[in-house]
Amino acid sequence: DLPSFVKIVEVGPRDGLQNEKGNVPTSVKIQLIHKLVAAGLSVVEATSFVSPKWVPQLSLELQLADAKEVLKGIQQVPDVRYPVLTPNLRGFEAAVAAGAKEIAVFASASESFSKSNINCTIDESLVRYRDVTAAAKKHGLLIRGYVSCVIGCPVEGAIDPSKVAYVAKELYNMGCSEISLGDTIGVGTPGSVAAMLEAVMSFVPVDKIAVHFHDTYGQALANILVSLQMGISIVDSSVSGLGGCPYAKGATGNVATEDVVYMLHGLGIETNVDLNKLMEAGDYISKHLGRPVGSKTAAALRKL
Ligand code: HMG
Ligand code: MG
Repeated sequence: DLPSFVKIVEVGPRDGLQNEKGNVPTSVKIQLIHKLVAAGLSVVEATSFVSPKWVPQLSLELQLADAKEVLKGIQQVPDVRYPVLTPNLRGFEAAVAAGAKEIAVFASASESFSKSNINCTIDESLVRYRDVTAAAKKHGLLIRGYVSCVIGCPVEGAIDPSKVAYVAKELYNMGCSEISLGDTIGVGTPGSVAAMLEAVMSFVPVDKIAVHFHDTYGQALANILVSLQMGISIVDSSVSGLGGCPYAKGATGNVATEDVVYMLHGLGIETNVDLNKLMEAGDYISKHLGRPVGSKTAAALRKL
């Protein structure tokens, strides 16, 4: 049975814009977040409090150096969640100082990716995140936990589902209320995704699991459908398909939120998202980035 409601976690302002080459003004990021919330999205990942030094591309430094201004600039709507990424206690403290009510920690199922993304082993990251989540719980904050490279890694190739299950279980046990499973480089198919989800579901309740697909091989919607069939009801996506990954060359953006909404509504699944307003948010950011809209749904409905 498919779920009757799916919660969409919009990650475009963070996962999307962190990968843009040109500088996006802080005011545009804030406006984008406002438009996404106005379209009915109840969770919008706003930004990330990471080390600007650690991002290999100048773009990321430009893009996310304004994390504090973005978070402070948002007119927060009650009942809407605005999680922000925090890689360590330093990022956590900066996030709290800027008014964050929800944070996200991000571990990896791949040792190589862990090293290049957060400069430590998987187990070292879990030790670090235990401190961050303990501090977050003390402040009464909600915590999302990401596992990246859940299907494959740019360096190591295929990742064993048991590795994903291990990291997911650890994040869940330290207090993450939602575990987002990221196919960072978009190599998954419904076959490999089902096997991975089955492994994770032995340790994490299905209603606490989110799926996070990138559309590199055009498999994202099929992967979402198989996830729904397995009982998942939280889906991460990015308006206009913004994104990529600075540590995974060639990886394309997250699945486009417009395409996810179109599919879910077609399945009779509620999302509370107004597709027209969502497309306006997509138009807005695409115009700023100087490129055509990145969702097939918007292109089709607008007859572009
Ligand atoms: P490190 O070099 O091991 O840490 O980096 P460090 O403590 O030695 O700090 C290095 C420098 O950064 C120091 O500056 C720190 O002060 C500073 P210096 O003393 O040399 O002047 N620093 C910070 N500055 C601002 N905010 C902070 C912070 N922490 C340290 N929070 C670290 C370790 C984790 C900090 C670094 O590797 C990092 O920030 N990594 C994040 C990179 C990133 O953002 N990657 C993209 C995330 S996307 C992802 O993971 C996948 C996901 O999207 C899901 C999917 O798509 O699958 C979630
Ligand atoms: Mg992503």
